[in-house]
Amino acid sequence: MNNDDFQSWAHRGQMRVESMLDRLLPESSVLPSRLHDAMRYSVLGGGKRVRPLLALAAGELAGADSDRVMPAACSVELIHAYSLVHDDLPAMDDDVLRRGRPTCHVEYDEATALLVGDSLQSLAFEILASSPCKKRVEMIRLLAQASGSRGMAGGQAIDLESVGKNLELPELEAMHVRKTGALIRASVLLGAYCGETSEAELGALDHFAKMIGLAFQVIDDVLDAESSTATLGKTAGKDKKDNKPTYVSLLGPAASRKMAQDLFESALSALEGFGNKAQRLLGMADFVVQRQF
Ligand code: IPE
Ligand code: IPE
Ligand code: MG
Ligand code: MG
Ligand code: MG
Repeated sequence: MNNDDFQSWAHRGQMRVESMLDRLLPESSVLPSRLHDAMRYSVLGGGKRVRPLLALAAGELAGADSDRVMPAACSVELIHAYSLVHDDLPAMDDDVLRRGRPTCHVEYDEATALLVGDSLQSLAFEILASSPCKKRVEMIRLLAQASGSRGMAGGQAIDLESVGKNLELPELEAMHVRKTGALIRASVLLGAYCGETSEAELGALDHFAKMIGLAFQVIDDVLDAESSTATLGKTAGKDKKDNKPTYVSLLGPAASRKMAQDLFESALSALEGFGNKAQRLLGMADFVVQRQF
């Protein structure tokens, strides 16, 4: 695959996502101004937009027009942005830097950050409910399950309970699969649901998404340990400082990278039957494990 071609596809997708999110978020001039300003601050002008790009890539594989996938792609990014605002709060990871800027509660205040999360979550479902895709009710159910106590929020609960503990590998995997894997999986399936796929194809995409979702957090753990605050745009070395069990604390960075590579290969094997239609998803999988931030 031509890497320039992937880069320009991803760049175009990021631009489209940015402009749609800009249109969907209430203007700062709309009451309550401070809340709307903080929502826009937390969503716009940053982030790799991995989840919407995964939805667009899966939509492309399933033959869905990208315009039809866009509302679902934006809805999962809004849930993700909300999860970051809450993740950074003093009651959770207590982080001051996100996407190279002060975190929402630092720039505004804690109460505003709570309400930003609440409001972004509601907006996500409002937008998904207006999706032109036929399976929109199943899509709403999928995103709700991926965001809630059996998905992202549940994973975050396990994360907080695990501080200072030595988790075994299966427990660590159970946490990562929920806190990060669930939304990544939902991103891929939302895109696929907008097009046409057989049950077998959906099963293959599900396997792909699970592998990539876990790999994403394994690499997040590695980057936290190995990269710098300047490169990441968030505080490096934070997991160790906070005594969080991570793949790096359990296996070390080299074995963690090896694990991410094995997950990547397993993800690719799931795409074999799709031929050229899978080239964007393949590019995304590559990005997830090779990324520098
Ligand atoms: C960071 O996600 C939090 C995790 C779930 C690991 P991203 O690395 O996708 O963050 P942004 O959206 O690009 O800032
Ligand atoms: C966060 O995991 C997962 C979420 C659900 C937001 P981390 O706490 O490791 O994410 P970062 O490193 O702060 O982005
Ligand atoms: Mg966290
Ligand atoms: Mg965090
Ligand atoms: Mg992290």
